[in-house]
Amino acid sequence: MKKNILLIGGSKGIGLEIVKELSSKHNVYVASRSDDNLSDYDVTYFKFDALKDDVSELDLPETLDGFVYCPGSINLKPFKMMKPETFEEDFQLNFMSLVKTTHGVLSKLKNSEQASLVYFSTVAVQTGMPFHTSVAAAKGAIEGFARSLAAEYAPSFRVNVVAPSLVNSQLASKLLGSDKKKEKMDERHPLKRVGEPTDIGKIASFLLSEDSSWITGQVLGVDGGMGSLNVS
Ligand SMILES: NC(=O)c1ccc[n+]([C@@H]2O[C@H](COP(=O)([O-])OP(=O)(O)OC[C@H]3O[C@@H](n4cnc5c(N)ncnc54)[C@H](OP(=O)(O)O)[C@@H]3O)[C@@H](O)[C@H]2O)c1
Repeated sequence: MKKNILLIGGSKGIGLEIVKELSSKHNVYVASRSDDNLSDYDVTYFKFDALKDDVSELDLPETLDGFVYCPGSINLKPFKMMKPETFEEDFQLNFMSLVKTTHGVLSKLKNSEQASLVYFSTVAVQTGMPFHTSVAAAKGAIEGFARSLAAEYAPSFRVNVVAPSLVNSQLASKLLGSDKKKEKMDERHPLKRVGEPTDIGKIASFLLSEDSSWITGQVLGVDGGMGSLNVS
């Protein structure tokens, strides 16, 4: 059965991979600031800034079966150099706008037989990593929120979180911007490569599908072994 799936951010990176996976099978709605990469796909696009705009004003269908929140940040610095404003900005984009957009579509999700919500965290929540204080704090909030929401809305909604390690998208371009940097990052992972957006997009698409209908309240590490193995 065709589902109605809303992606906040689907124009690049992991979200675009979800578009590639799902747009030929389902009604996919993309709300992001740009539509640069979407012309080849059958999606309904809304120009939308999650930091400013109200999702309830979008012309969405009455029922949403899937909801994905993609916007995120990677601000890595020693804590003493990390300004409190950076924590606030990261919290707004990663967490508060996720809460606001989820809240804004609740009634549409409730109209689904069983809606599936997918959020993104990071491996750096469960595994302490230097310089990750801000992003780990903001993404940690998502993990707690998602588990609680999953409990509150079971069995009506399923809510799951994907926690990637470094993925080769525009967001990570500063960390992977040269062959040397990429090789170093590949080497750090037990599976000897950083992630590609498709590694994460396929898992998110699985979580939106009925194949995952008995999975809720989970944080799935999709991280080349980074979060659970020590092979050095
Ligand atoms: N890449 C990694 O290494 C990595 C690692 C761990 C976790 N993650 C998490 O995975 C998620 C996806 O990451 P990604 O690598 O795919 O990031 P990305 O390449 O930066 O893509 C983010 C998507 O969100 C949209 N977006 C950003 N800000 C927005 C805003 N204010 N309003 C509406 N849409 C906005 C972007 O579209 P527009 O620019 O067109 O608005 C884009 O479609 C993020 O939450 C990130 O924190 C990524």
